[in-house]
Amino acid sequence: MAAEMIAIGPSDRVFVLTGAGISAESGLPTFRASDGLWAGHRVEDVCTPEALVENPALVWQFYSERRAQDEKAQPNAAHKALAELEERLGERFFLCTQNVDDLHERAGSRRMVHMHGELAKSRCEDECGRPPVEDRRVYRSLEEVGRCACGARLRPHIVFFGEMPLEMSRIEREIAECTVMVVIGTSGSVYPAANFVNWARSAGARTMYIGPERPLNAHVFSQIVEGKAGEVLPGLFEIQG
Ligand code: OAD
Repeated sequence: MAAEMIAIGPSDRVFVLTGAGISAESGLPTFRASDGLWAGHRVEDVCTPEALVENPALVWQFYSERRAQDEKAQPNAAHKALAELEERLGERFFLCTQNVDDLHERAGSRRMVHMHGELAKSRCEDECGRPPVEDRRVYRSLEEVGRCACGARLRPHIVFFGEMPLEMSRIEREIAECTVMVVIGTSGSVYPAANFVNWARSAGARTMYIGPERPLNAHVFSQIVEGKAGEVLPGLFEIQG
């Protein structure tokens, strides 16, 4: 077996965490590129509950642009490699993405959650309790934005800074059960996701990071595979048994 392969034994359970880097080769920009801006905006202007109150038109313009960009993007070899791994491992595989694009689903991933929300959905701005609805529309003005059944305006189904990530109890359960954690394309700067590797490691799991640069929490991983996800992931897993 080559040094840069990850062995998956017959009783291993694999938890994968992905970040913006896995979609970089699909043409979607990462968040913390060298200019520190997110597609030309400061995060606090477009990704906070305060921004939604103070300038909902800008928030919706921003997420409408992201929707348009997402629609044009295609899953890359890394998304496909994870869907294939799930096909081989079935219930022994679980994927948690921080990404709001739907490239994992479009590549075939099913046992997965979006902890930071989904671009393709909207929900009630007043949190009336109705579940999020599918909404891929690219709005040209605030007046066009749809309404919840309760009458309030819809907001993007995105976890803003200061809001609770989604699906945390399922994520915690899956991490507690995993024996291998593979983290791909995330800078390790946003919590609680940046802590998952600590939880897995203290429960005894092997922990690997894949990406072209070392993440902020690099010291916690037992193995780092340096390279672009789309180049490294295909053929990386050696499934035994
Ligand atoms: P970042 O932009 O912080 O980090 C992207 C990471 O991807 C960097 O570490 C890059 O080195 C790496 N990378 C770049 N190209 C890559 C490639 N081809 N293959 C693999 N890795 C590559 O993005 P995240 O860590 O995902 O939250 O950001 C975390 C959260 O911060 C996001 O989910 C978002 C943001 O605010 C919300 O939207 C709530």
